Amino acid sequence: AQVSMRQLLDHAAENGYGMPAFNINNMEQMLAIMEAAAETDSPVIMQASRGARKYANDTVLSYLIKAAIEMYPDIPVCMHQDHGNSPATCMSAISFGFSSVMMDGSLSEDGKTPSTYEYNVETTRKVVEMAHMVGVSVEGELGCLGSLETGEGEKEDGHGFEGKLDMESLLTDPDQAADFVSKTGVDALAIAIGTSHGAYKFTRKPTGDILAISRVKEIHERLPNVHLVMHGSSAVPQNLQDVINKYGGEMPQTYGVPLEEVETAIKHGVRKVNIDTDNRMAITGAIRKVFAEQPGKFDPRDYLKPAMAEMKKVCIERFERFGCAGQA
Ligand code: G3H
Ligand code: 13P
Ligand code: NA
Ligand code: ZN
Repeated sequence: AQVSMRQLLDHAAENGYGMPAFNINNMEQMLAIMEAAAETDSPVIMQASRGARKYANDTVLSYLIKAAIEMYPDIPVCMHQDHGNSPATCMSAISFGFSSVMMDGSLSEDGKTPSTYEYNVETTRKVVEMAHMVGVSVEGELGCLGSLETGEGEKEDGHGFEGKLDMESLLTDPDQAADFVSKTGVDALAIAIGTSHGAYKFTRKPTGDILAISRVKEIHERLPNVHLVMHGSSAVPQNLQDVINKYGGEMPQTYGVPLEEVETAIKHGVRKVNIDTDNRMAITGAIRKVFAEQPGKFDPRDYLKPAMAEMKKVCIERFERFGCAGQA
C-alpha cells in the first residue's frame, strides 16, 4: 500500500529502528528493493532525485511506483522526491504520485550556493503548507553537506556549494534546528554531520572529528520528537570497491559511513538513512564481472540480472542492520 513518509517514520520512532531510503532510476533498482523488502518483511522508502526524474521520465517513474505497490500489496511503500530544489519541483512530484517530498532549501535554487536561513525557512514552510493539504510528507534540510576533513562543500554531483566553510557552518546547529522545525512544520529534518554524497566521503575510516555522530545526539536531545535524516550515508564497502577494481574499474581507495556508525545514529533519533552510492557500486561491480569473465555476452539480461541480485544483497543487509526487517 502507498503510505506517506510520516507514517513510516512515526512507526520507526515508536519501535526504535531506522528506514533506509534507496534511490531509484530504473526498473531494475525498483525490483531489487522490493524483492529485498519482501524477503525481509520491511517497509520501503524509494526516492528519485531530479536527475532520476529526468533520466527515467516522470510518467515511467509514476508507473514504477504503481507497479511496486500493486505487486506487493502487504508492503507499505513511500515514494519520495529526493533533493527538491523548489516548490515547483515538489508540486510536480506530488502530481506524479509521490507521497513525500524533500524541499532542500539549504542551497539556493541553482544548487550551487548555500542559501540564507530566511530563504530556507520561507521556501520549506510554503511546501509544507501545500503538501500537507494532500497528505504528503515533507523533509527539510538545515546545514551544508560537506567534508570536515577539508572544509569543502560538495561540488561534483551538483548538490553542493562551491567554496569552503568552517566546521560550525558545516554542521547543523541544534538551536537553529529547533527554530527551523517550529517555523516550517517539516515531518523530517536532514542534518549535516560531516557526510557528503558519492563514494569519496573520507580519506580514512571516519572518527568523531570528521563524522560528528555526537551532533546527532545533541540535536536529538534538543528535539526528541523530530525524525532526523542522514544524507550521504553509503558505507562504500571495501568488498564492493575491490570487485569494481578487480574487473577493470578504477576507484581510488575511499571510505564511507560504516554501518555501525549508522546504527549508533539510529539510537539517537535518525529515522531515514539515504543510500544511493552503495547500490550503484553493487550494480557496477556485477556488470563489470560479467563483462570481464564472459566478454561474449550481449543480452542486457545476462548482466542486469546479476546486477539486481547484488543490489538486493546490499538492500537486505541495510534493512536488517537498521532494524527495519520484520516491521512491514
Ligand atoms: O542526492 C544524491 C543521490 O545520490 C542522487 O544522485 O542526482 O546523481 O541522481 P543524482
Ligand atoms: P550516498 O551517495 O552516500 O549514497 O547518499 C545518497 C543520498 O544522500 C541521496 O540523497
Ligand atoms: Na531526501
Ligand atoms: Zn542527499
